[in-house]
Amino acid sequence: SGLSITTPEQRIEKAKGETAYLPCKFTLSPEDQGPLDIEWLISPSDNQIVDQVIILYSGDKIYDNYYPDLKGRVHFTSNDVKSGDASINVTNLQLSDIGTYQCKVKKAPGVANKKFLLTVLVKPSGTRCFVDGSEEIGNDFKLKCEPKEGSLPLQFEWQKLSDSQTMPTPWLAEMTSPVISVKNASSEYSGTYSCTVQNRVGSDQCMLRLDVVPPSNRAHHHHHH
Ligand SMILES: *[C@@H]1O[C@H](CO)[C@@H](O)[C@H](O)[C@H]1NC(C)=O
Ligand SMILES: *[C@@H]1O[C@H](CO)[C@@H](O)[C@H](O)[C@H]1NC(C)=O
Repeated sequence: SGLSITTPEQRIEKAKGETAYLPCKFTLSPEDQGPLDIEWLISPSDNQIVDQVIILYSGDKIYDNYYPDLKGRVHFTSNDVKSGDASINVTNLQLSDIGTYQCKVKKAPGVANKKFLLTVLVKPSGTRCFVDGSEEIGNDFKLKCEPKEGSLPLQFEWQKLSDSQTMPTPWLAEMTSPVISVKNASSEYSGTYSCTVQNRVGSDQCMLRLDVVPPSNRAHHHHHH
C-alpha cells in the first residue's frame, strides 16, 4: 500500500554547536501519481508555536526561509530528494532547537509523516577545581569541582595524580561527588588531584594542587593556584 516513510520514529540527542541529522527516507508506489511535496515542521518545546514549517520541497524546488531561528541552518542532505531521501541536517545546534520535528511526504493519493524528538545538551566546560578552607594539618576543608556550564545529569570523578595515585581512604565515599569534605587533614593528603565532569555529550577536567602544612608554616608557605 502507498507511500511510506521507512525511517523509524526516534529520539536524537546532540551537543550544542553540533549538527543533527534527522533521517526521513520514503518509498513511493506506482499509484502515487500526484506532485511530490515534502514538508518539515517544528514544534519547539520552549514556546507555544506548533508545527511551524522549516523547510519545503515543492514543484522540484526547495524553500527554506520560513523560521527565523533556523535561518541558514537547515538543509536537505540529499541533492536528489525525489529519489526517496527527505533527510535534513540542522547545523550549529542551539538550545532553542529542542523540540519535535515532523517529516511529511505527500504524493497523492499517498501521504505519510514521522516525528522525531531532538534534544540539545550543553557539554560541561569551564570547570574550576579549588580548595574551600585553609589547607592546614588537623583542619577541615572542602575540595570543590564546579563546571561553569553543562546539562544535567553530571557525573564527577576525582583522582589523585601524584605519588601512589591512591585517594585518601576517608575520601573514597565522595570520589564521585562534586565536593569532597576533608576532615582532620594530614600532610599525606598533599598532592595533585584532578576532577573529571561528564554528561551524555562531553566531558571536562580541572586539576588542583593541595599542600597540607602545619599551621605555623602558613606564613612562609608559597601558595600554588
Ligand atoms: C549531515 O550531518 C552529518 C553529521 O551529523 C554529516 O556527517 C553529513 O556529512 C552532513 N550532510 C550534509 C549533506 O551536510
Ligand atoms: C586527627 O588525626 C591525627 C593523626 O593524623 C590523630 O592523631 C587525631 O586523633 C585525629 N583527630 C581527630 C579529632 O580525629
